[in-house]
Amino acid sequence: MRKKEKTKLFEDLEALRREVVRHRELYDNKSKPEITDAEYDALKLRVDELETLLGAEDELFNVSNIVGSAPGRGFKKVRHSTPMLSLDNAFNDDEVERFYERLKRFLTVEGDIDLAVEPKIDGLSLAVTYRRGELVQAVTRGNGRVGEDVTRNVVFVRGVPAELHGSDLPEILEVRGEVYLTKEDFLILNEKMIRQKKKPFANPRNAASGSLRQKDASITRGRNLGFFAYTVGFSSQPLSDRHSTSMEIVRSLGIETTPEFCLCSNVQGALDAYHRIETIRSSLPYDIDGVVYKVDRLDWQDRLGQAAKAPRWAIAHKFAAERAQTILLAIEIQIGRTGKLTPVARLEPVGVGGVTVTNATLHNADEIGRLKVRPGDRVLIQRAGDVIPQILENLTPDEPRLPYVFPRYCPIEFGGCGSAVEREPGEVDFRCTGGLICPAQRVERLRHFVSRNALDIEGLGLKQIQSFFKDRLIDSPAHIFTLTEQKLLTRKKKGDVWARNLINAIAARKGPPLDRFLFALGIRHIGEVTARDIARHYHSWAGFRAVVDELLVHRKARRPELESALEQQRLEDHDKIKRRLGLELAGIIGVGGVGPEVAGAIADFFEEPHNLKVLTDLFEAGVSPQDVEYAPVQSEVSGKIVVFSGSLERLSRDEAKAQAEKLGARVSTDVSKKTDILIAGPGAGSKLKKAEDFGIRIIDEKQWQNIVARAEA
Ligand code: IVH
Repeated sequence: MRKKEKTKLFEDLEALRREVVRHRELYDNKSKPEITDAEYDALKLRVDELETLLGAEDELFNVSNIVGSAPGRGFKKVRHSTPMLSLDNAFNDDEVERFYERLKRFLTVEGDIDLAVEPKIDGLSLAVTYRRGELVQAVTRGNGRVGEDVTRNVVFVRGVPAELHGSDLPEILEVRGEVYLTKEDFLILNEKMIRQKKKPFANPRNAASGSLRQKDASITRGRNLGFFAYTVGFSSQPLSDRHSTSMEIVRSLGIETTPEFCLCSNVQGALDAYHRIETIRSSLPYDIDGVVYKVDRLDWQDRLGQAAKAPRWAIAHKFAAERAQTILLAIEIQIGRTGKLTPVARLEPVGVGGVTVTNATLHNADEIGRLKVRPGDRVLIQRAGDVIPQILENLTPDEPRLPYVFPRYCPIEFGGCGSAVEREPGEVDFRCTGGLICPAQRVERLRHFVSRNALDIEGLGLKQIQSFFKDRLIDSPAHIFTLTEQKLLTRKKKGDVWARNLINAIAARKGPPLDRFLFALGIRHIGEVTARDIARHYHSWAGFRAVVDELLVHRKARRPELESALEQQRLEDHDKIKRRLGLELAGIIGVGGVGPEVAGAIADFFEEPHNLKVLTDLFEAGVSPQDVEYAPVQSEVSGKIVVFSGSLERLSRDEAKAQAEKLGARVSTDVSKKTDILIAGPGAGSKLKKAEDFGIRIIDEKQWQNIVARAEA
């Protein structure tokens, strides 16, 4: 490229960068976007291309990776190249053996599978990216999809070199690993915090997280954090076809990798390694809470893929929980967003495995009955990793004390409303019947609405919601969007910067992606995964709403039939109709994974006038869910319903199912008129007959493999 041309491109790049910043600002802080999201993305893409072309990826200060940031909100948000997943857990050898059997079945491997075994470091995960060997970005896990850019701070983390060693480096290399603080540094830090009259950290993991996520990088510098890489997130040139060797290469480039790593040729070897690591656990300088087993062959990892939140090719084997004795001081009741009453034990503070425990869950009334615990009793508690501590046993059941009586009314002392508490037949939980008159439920719904995986409004935590609710500033979700700086300041004695930041943070969330919006509504049974499936399926709020209307009409049409069955005491018929209706509703929704219960819950939600009012108010306040564009791998089976039957030779059922889902097909277990394709192996039997009767397309495993190959080509 000639110099003149290059200078011109640099100027273009600068101008484009300024445009990105300006549009980001309009969107985030002024809530007056001038361009669509797609146009914005195209702009960012152009910046990216130019940066790569010119080798101008000065990531410390560039803007091309910004996905959402606002002054005062801390760190720039960055979308991960691929989601940072969590791991499934196993708690004993049997569960690990079952995992191993699952692997073999999935991969249809007869012999043994090499497993990498490494300690599970108890810190926080971080993705670090190198471009031509130079550290350009470090991003925390965040919610798994979007994390925080902590590049400035990571320079002070041991184990993450600013430059890689070696010559034949990939253009881009993203390595993922764990940032940790040693047990010794944790103690030193806490002593210092206490001397300075600051709140000490609960454990090394929290301390590491707090130390890395510092706006002032000089604080991070003084904290002595370390890093161990545990996987390659992305590499523009594959490093190796094995996990073990790619980690060796990563180490040779100068990045620290998990110590105590070993490669085992079968499950017994892996379990032996677990027990060996368990014995040295307490002598290691850092906290580990288990080991991780990983399939070593990377092509097998690819085939195994991932389930909803965790990969199928790895599992964490947790160490046994640690236990301690303490006194149960009181039993308090938490009232959830659906009115569920959860008893919580307040405990005399006690150290368990390096953490001070003050609360334990008691689950429900039955659990209290089973343990026969009363305030004043000495109890045995157990804590395992991230799990909320549990009470295992009452050590003083014979001491004369009155039994604890579970509340019959929604407890006002814990924010409740005094309404009767009921338990539905077959359910373990008691629920407050107060519905929307119950302040605790309303507060919890608001809290859910703004929470991190829902609308994610920064600065609106439980404390603020409670206090705004008490002051009558916020009473329903729409109120959040009608808040003004003035309203905030007349009620709260806080600074204008606080008010401005909060109002900005709220305004920045007026256009939530459809999946977050659906999740935020708090419809029963609609968790994050289902919300995402629905959003991907319908793309827009209008599309989803149209189907909901169909649901409601359908259900209304069935009502007389149900009522008459009830009136005539034909209870079995009633149940049958109800079940059928549920299935029909699920059929109308037509999203894989949405069954009768979920479909019914959606219909319930939209039949409730109050919920409709909440929605109208939200839309009136300017909230507008954004369309979700999602294109699964396009293939000739996208959107089709497929059924596998008979035995498959080269594929396990699980792998076949995962392949079909990846290609956008829905897998059903039974052949019906709606089925599009039957993949039949030897012994397909009655399903094959049914498919022939219905005139459904029937193919064999080989033809299926061809479809997969064509889609991947
Ligand atoms: S592998 C796709 N290996 O544990 C799975 N994770 O509970 C990638 N962790 O989010 C994870 N040590 O932050 C892996 N040796 C190790 C690990 C490890 C700690 C963390 C990691 C992950 C969490 C899951």
